[in-house]
Amino acid sequence: MSIRHYLQFKDLSADEYAYLLQRAAYIKAKFKAVEKHQPFADPDRTLALIFEKASTRTRVSFEAGMYQLGGSVVHLTTGDSQLGRAEPIEDSAKVISRMVDLVMIRTYEQSKIEAFAAHSRVPVINGLTNEFHPCQILADLFTLVEYRPAASGQPLDAIKGKVVAWVGDGNNMANTWLQAAELLGFTVHVSTPSGYEVDPKLAGIANANCYKVFKDPKEACKGADLVTTDVWTSMGFEAENEVRRAAFAQWCVDEAMMALARPDALFMHCLPAHRGEEVSAEVIDGPQSVVWDEAENRMHVQKALMEYLLLGRLA
Ligand code: CP
Ligand code: NVA
Repeated sequence: MSIRHYLQFKDLSADEYAYLLQRAAYIKAKFKAVEKHQPFADPDRTLALIFEKASTRTRVSFEAGMYQLGGSVVHLTTGDSQLGRAEPIEDSAKVISRMVDLVMIRTYEQSKIEAFAAHSRVPVINGLTNEFHPCQILADLFTLVEYRPAASGQPLDAIKGKVVAWVGDGNNMANTWLQAAELLGFTVHVSTPSGYEVDPKLAGIANANCYKVFKDPKEACKGADLVTTDVWTSMGFEAENEVRRAAFAQWCVDEAMMALARPDALFMHCLPAHRGEEVSAEVIDGPQSVVWDEAENRMHVQKALMEYLLLGRLA
């Protein structure tokens, strides 16, 4: 198999997502049954985790997931490696990818992870860039399928035709939702403050029919199967914190917004969350919220993804 990278959501096909979502369910069931699933034990495979931004979920889910698969992990940050001392990204890619089997990177510009991938001998996974967060959307879709499965049992049938309300910043999460909607056939209702809109070109979508824009976040929530949001200020944009706080004041997912969605609507948030800013405590800690399963599912889907990138289809 030639090298496959996972740098943005559209790097995999709908058919591959159908496989991955089913495989993740199998891998999760094994984990819950406390049964070993170690395709990376012999020969031992190593994952390099490179973080240029902070992380809790991404680090724990990849690191624990890789050990559970029987492999090993090397952890690097900007501060404790030559990445922070201006070694060219291309040189870092050539060196690191000679010693490990798989690389995950969390960084700033998408162009950086693309440059790394272009010089890597092994698959590279996007663990969040300014533009995209594909592993998170994979986990979110898996969680949606888990909670609202299709009668056919096919994961993609549970996703197709759904309405996802995005309330907040036109950021990396929003862009990735748009790519997923275009590829898997659902609609995103996007409501952002003015000046923070999504840009279809930046999101990398060709079909503008996969999303609708709403000035009023309440309108975006109407009839939604899933309401989701994210921090007002993403990592790397901290200098804009105060300006954003004022601009986003009306973009708080509260019980009134949830009441406009479908009665069985779910609430998701990639976390970390700020109660009283982008979401009220009543919603994130309330009965429609599935954020803890969503966070756990990062590990299960990423195990399926790592297995697929290294070994291909196993079932
Ligand atoms: N959702 C997410 O990626 O969380 P971390 O920033 O903690 O990794
Ligand atoms: N949009 C957020 C997501 C954090 C997981 C950020 O980029 O900081």
